[in-house]
Amino acid sequence: MTSTLYDDLRQRLTALCAGEFDPIALMATVACEVHQALPQADWTGFYRVVAPGLLKIGPYQGGHGCLTIPFDRGVCGAAARTGQAQRVDDVHAFPGHIACAASTQSELVLPVWNRRGTLLGVFDLDSDQPAAFSEGDEASLGDLLALCFAECAAPA
Ligand code: SME
Repeated sequence: MTSTLYDDLRQRLTALCAGEFDPIALMATVACEVHQALPQADWTGFYRVVAPGLLKIGPYQGGHGCLTIPFDRGVCGAAARTGQAQRVDDVHAFPGHIACAASTQSELVLPVWNRRGTLLGVFDLDSDQPAAFSEGDEASLGDLLALCFAECAAPA
C-alpha cells in the first residue's frame, strides 16, 4: 500500500516538475503533493539554507512555522548540520526540539541535496500523532527528494 502511495507520488511529481529547476517552485509543488498524500502529516514544508549555518522558512502546507532556524537548533537544524535524516517518534524526548505547534508529537526531517552535493535545505514533516512516520516513509521521501532536486541550482 505504501509503495503504491509513493509510486503515485513519484509519477505525479515527475510530471508536474518536468523541466523545472527553480528551488522555490519545486519546493512548493513537493510540499503540496506530499501533504495531500500523507494524512498523518499536519505540517509539511521546507526550510532553505540561506547563509552558512542558517535556515529560513520555505514553501509549506499547514499552520505557520518559525521563520528562522540556526543549524544548532531543533530537529531541522540537526538534519541540516549532520546531513542525516532525523526521524523523531516523540518530539518531547528530542533535546532542543522547536515547538512551532504545541500539538506536534512526531516528525521526520530530511536533508535536501542537489546532484552536486550542495545542501539546499531540509524537508520537514510534523504530525500530531506519535511515531507517525516509518522507516519506509523516510526512504521513499529521500528517493523522491533526490529525484526532484537533483538538477536544482543552489541559490546564489
Ligand atoms: N519542529 C521543528 C521546527 C519547525 S516547525 O515545527 C514547522 C524543529 O524542531 O526543527
